[in-house]
Amino acid sequence: MTGLNRKDILGLQDMSPEEISLILETAQSHKEILSRPVKKVPILRGKSICTLFYENSTRTRTSFELAAKIMSADTTSISVAGSSINKGESFKDTLLTLEAMGVDLFVIRHGASGSPHFAARTVKSHIINAGDGMHEHPTQGLLDMLTILENKGKFVGQKVLIVGDIMHSRVVRSNLWGLSKMGAEVRICGPKTLLPAEVDKLPVKVFTDLDEAIDGVDVVNVLRIQLERMNRGFFPSVSEYASMFGVNKNRLLKAKSDVLVMHPGPMNRGVEITPDVADGDFAVITDQVTNGVAVRMALLYLLLGGAGNVASA
Ligand code: CP
Repeated sequence: MTGLNRKDILGLQDMSPEEISLILETAQSHKEILSRPVKKVPILRGKSICTLFYENSTRTRTSFELAAKIMSADTTSISVAGSSINKGESFKDTLLTLEAMGVDLFVIRHGASGSPHFAARTVKSHIINAGDGMHEHPTQGLLDMLTILENKGKFVGQKVLIVGDIMHSRVVRSNLWGLSKMGAEVRICGPKTLLPAEVDKLPVKVFTDLDEAIDGVDVVNVLRIQLERMNRGFFPSVSEYASMFGVNKNRLLKAKSDVLVMHPGPMNRGVEITPDVADGDFAVITDQVTNGVAVRMALLYLLLGGAGNVASA
């Protein structure tokens, strides 16, 4: 496969294993640029990229902006605060206005699931989903996969445990689709109250006991407790959650001896992960962040600059 035959990146559920492989290979080749003394290539000169974020972000937004600047694209950044969204301008009108200014590609984060899909139907510009509600966060899924591939060399047969607030997590939805398509065994674990409805229809093994779930796994991906999305008590207290579902040194002893510890960030240290594990020898959390820039460079290249994208707008 030489190019992506699609206009938008909305999720990993509808992506083929060949497309995922192409993105990860492209990211691996682009990563070398990040270690150069002068991190600048002219590939996307003349292209205009807008990050349109209706929710907070540090990693996703900054890494998209850095990726675009490294590839010489022009970038604009729109948030709710400081824009006419705050005066009541609709999502549709915001998109049409910015497209009329010449934006070639929108990176969109929105609290409502499906917003990037609506955007993809509304404008001819390319759309990349940077996290939509409780649905998907495909670039996080891809950067997590790249980190696993770099460290383990393959996906087939890898046992990947994702533990935490499964219900509210768009990270888990992208990871489970991507990893299962590539042949990994995906386990999810969390309190019953934080498992989504119809979890039995997903391509995962479901656990509610972390000590059982962590047994023999190659990777532990720890999710943040998303207190901001919870409108009622899903567990008795934060300290009880930490004692039952927190990843600590003792629990890690049950995983493989070369286990990888991952976290998409931001972390609640002392809640879902202890500081010694977050900063310990098995953690690849900052490597995930670096891989985020590489994956986003790859996607911008494949949608805007790469040969063979026959679905360019
Ligand atoms: N992992 C992630 O999406 O982080 P941000 O919310 O900081 O972008």
